[in-house]
Amino acid sequence: MSLLSGKKVLLTGASRGIGAAIACAVAKEGASLTLVAHPHHEQDLKQCADKAKSCGAKDCNTQCVDFADTAAVQKLADQCASQGVDVLINNAGILGSHKAEETGPLKGNPDDWDRVMKVNALAPMRLIRALAPKMCDNGEYALRGFGLSAYETLRGHNVRVVDIAPGNVGQTGFSEKSDIQTAGQGTISPDDVAQAVLFCFRLSKNAVPEEIVLKAVKPGSS
Ligand SMILES: NC(=O)c1ccc[n+]([C@@H]2O[C@H](COP(=O)([O-])OP(=O)(O)OC[C@H]3O[C@@H](n4cnc5c(N)ncnc54)[C@H](OP(=O)(O)O)[C@@H]3O)[C@@H](O)[C@H]2O)c1
Repeated sequence: MSLLSGKKVLLTGASRGIGAAIACAVAKEGASLTLVAHPHHEQDLKQCADKAKSCGAKDCNTQCVDFADTAAVQKLADQCASQGVDVLINNAGILGSHKAEETGPLKGNPDDWDRVMKVNALAPMRLIRALAPKMCDNGEYALRGFGLSAYETLRGHNVRVVDIAPGNVGQTGFSEKSDIQTAGQGTISPDDVAQAVLFCFRLSKNAVPEEIVLKAVKPGSS
């Protein structure tokens, strides 16, 4: 039997980059998928869903939601909670700025912080809050939670929370737009991150990597 057959996976940020690679990897393992991305990229998301189906996803539907829109995120969370989700992969995320001279606490525009916090932190937290209670009943997974607190709270309920820190990943929206220098660090591929996700499912049900930190072995691109 495939690793994820019979499992319902909710994956955010699925239209490109790391999310698109994870979608294919979990599809190959027989999961049913709900893929989410920003409404601006509905077409990209649909293409990703078609690819996931051709990779072997049992079912694949798409939802376009702006994670900066709190009401829309809550609606998604409620809908997914009522349908039931076994695995949550909180992957969507943005940079405050793609320009090196605008990054850091004393640079850039603080007005951008609201959007960054909503997309990168508050939307994932809403999803975990809505979905975790049913996962507790079933003993399933929440990936990339609000860190240690979700890990500690949920592990007693047989829910595994893993924080995957992907390092520098090439072939993504981040890497294409950003001029932030990562010279000398090298990049890994979105597929490397997808394989790290699958690794979590290959462990026995009683084992969980609290955190996976990925790095490139040598400088250069993947
Ligand atoms: N690439 C790296 O080196 C790197 C390093 C460390 C951490 N990460 C993290 O890895 C995750 C994936 O990054 P990536 O490199 O694959 O970036 P990416 O190619 O830019 O993909 C980002 C994904 O997030 C979605 N997203 C962005 N804003 C959204 C919003 N307001 N509402 C809903 N969805 C939104 C995008 O959807 P649309 O396409 O529809 O906009 C896209 O699917 C992010 O959380 C990022 O912080 C990446």
